[in-house]
Amino acid sequence: MSRTMVAGNWKMNTSPAEGARLIQEVMEKVGTPATRVVFGVPALQLMQAQELVAGHTNYAIAAQNMHQETSGAYTGEISAGMLSEVGIEYVILGHSERRDYAGEDDDLINLKIQRALEAGLRPIYCCGEKLDIREAGNQELVVGKQVEQALYSLDPEQIEKIVIAYEPVWAIGTGRTASKEQAQDMHAYIRRMIANQFGADVAQNLTILYGGSVKPNNAVELFSQPDVDGGLVGGASLDAENFAAIVNAIGG
Ligand code: 13P
Repeated sequence: MSRTMVAGNWKMNTSPAEGARLIQEVMEKVGTPATRVVFGVPALQLMQAQELVAGHTNYAIAAQNMHQETSGAYTGEISAGMLSEVGIEYVILGHSERRDYAGEDDDLINLKIQRALEAGLRPIYCCGEKLDIREAGNQELVVGKQVEQALYSLDPEQIEKIVIAYEPVWAIGTGRTASKEQAQDMHAYIRRMIANQFGADVAQNLTILYGGSVKPNNAVELFSQPDVDGGLVGGASLDAENFAAIVNAIGG
């Protein structure tokens, strides 16, 4: 099975009408993709987006968040079960914006991952260091700790459902991308960690995406790295032409 995937994280962008158009345009431009293509849409658009991709090979929808409890008095929240009931396949968890703006830490993210897996969702787990950490050369220490805290309590069957997205915070929305060497080094490090904890086979099949200013003009060189299996794309996923070009940058 191919490890490759290109996922868009639209964040809090697009109206429902714009979102529907964007999905339709990408699907028209790409046709049947050689890789998994995932649209991470705002909560309000999840059902509409799911209907648009249903039955189309290699397309799927991701939620951008969910709550760690299964139900209850949590005003404004959405549960994993609600997402899976309407056919959503993926959920982005641990994004640096939620760590920063919603105070999410790896213990909470671990709970969300457990809940997502119980409901049959596939978490796209985001990790990544901030600029000061990178400048001090401590990125493996910090990302290693994130991966350990969020994922090591899972069992091997569960880890097979996880997609990891390495997103250096200094590269998100800044136009500054990790070099292909920086991306490859960290992806290889994460894969080694997973191999040590869960075994070589699990690590070999694991999808590890790179995120942070992925654009049509850098996607090919990033995706050609042996441990970079695709991208989690923010800004460039909001433009059908750019996103289609990034999808087509994957060899298949
Ligand atoms: P940009 O592609 O806009 O840098 O965003 C990356 C990101 O945060 C994807 O989750």
